[in-house]
Amino acid sequence: MTVRTLLHGVLSCAVAVGAWSLVAPAQAPVPVPAADPGRRPARVVLTWRDDPARTQAVTWRTDALVEEAFAEIAEATANPGFGAVARRSPARTTAVPVPGGTTAYYHEARFTALRPDTLYAYRVGDGATWSEWFHFRTAALEPATFSFIYVGDAQNDIRSLWSRAIRSAFLEAPRSRFVIHAGDLVNTGESDEQWGEWFGAGGWINGMVPQVPVVGNHEYGRLTRTDPRQLSALWRPQFALPEDGPEGLAETAYSFDFQGARIIVLNSNEDTRLADQAAWLEARLKEPRPRWTIVTFHHPVFSVANDRDNPKIRDAWKPLFEKYGVDLVLTGHDHTYGRGENLIDGASRREEGGPVYVVSVSGPKMYEVGKGRTWATRTGANVQLFQVITVSPQAIKFEARTVTGQLFDAFDITRSRNGRRRFVDRKPELPVKY
Ligand SMILES: [Fe+2]
Repeated sequence: MTVRTLLHGVLSCAVAVGAWSLVAPAQAPVPVPAADPGRRPARVVLTWRDDPARTQAVTWRTDALVEEAFAEIAEATANPGFGAVARRSPARTTAVPVPGGTTAYYHEARFTALRPDTLYAYRVGDGATWSEWFHFRTAALEPATFSFIYVGDAQNDIRSLWSRAIRSAFLEAPRSRFVIHAGDLVNTGESDEQWGEWFGAGGWINGMVPQVPVVGNHEYGRLTRTDPRQLSALWRPQFALPEDGPEGLAETAYSFDFQGARIIVLNSNEDTRLADQAAWLEARLKEPRPRWTIVTFHHPVFSVANDRDNPKIRDAWKPLFEKYGVDLVLTGHDHTYGRGENLIDGASRREEGGPVYVVSVSGPKMYEVGKGRTWATRTGANVQLFQVITVSPQAIKFEARTVTGQLFDAFDITRSRNGRRRFVDRKPELPVKY
């Protein structure tokens, strides 16, 4: 550490705590007052509102009113003095009433004009009380191999039993570049307590790995029995997501490109909005796009559990997945596992080239496999799972693992030079007991 860096640290401290107006001798311990927990940033989460190569958004909350909130960012260096050249971005604050008569303050800052494929450090706070410095890496401009995590419904016993799913996933693939949550992140969308469990389970992972939340039916609720179902008031303040979807579906239907893959998120909860999402989806698929296309939403195209079927979604969107060569469709909702490949024409006719459909679950609520047996080549019940998906210019490699680390399902989708896709099943023998 240079003298300048050290001085900078001491001076920052002096400014931060106010009362310490004199620079302390270099060797003397500097007292640090306990931060007011109500002003301390909590629930810090990275998301994208825009191009992952050039921008990054971050959201956090405080329980006390913070008049002015900021985020600071610098290129990360091993030298701890990087903060001396940090840029400061103002945050937008939204006050949200939470049960118990209190108010939570959600803050959102956007980093723009970032350099692609670069490691940054950032922190959030009010100028005096700051979070720790977190790291993230921007996407490369060109296609390049990367992995991401996909999980199905967390929903219940989130602190107690879902936490092991997200943490095991991260330990399995700590270099993952983002995490897709395929809906029903919580059981009661308006429950601040359940969201507290969700953010607690992810902890600092959310501050370093961008999250891609998909809205599920449990993120919707009614104020009274006769009211229409509405998206949780917490969704938009706590996740800063793209607004490129159809009007009225901002931050629940959206898309972004990442190093050779286009990720398209749809909102399968709005029955009356399936057609206009289809039109938007088709426009996104018609545009020049990267080699791979992955679509995710909550309700399965083909159900796994009995007494479940989503014909409207199948009718509205499945023909487009086939027409435009969508590679992978990732869903949740059925609290089981099911994977069926190349289902070009309903459940019976398998052909090369169709999308691979996956239903998965990461939380502890479990249903039995019913109709999944008619279409899926791998099914599972009573098993908490996570998926690690590796995308390279040559292939998509998919692995589903139990939360105890056993390989549960695997396949590759490859593409030859002439663009022809091939499916390679790599599903393992299932362990006798999982
Ligand atoms: Fe659901």
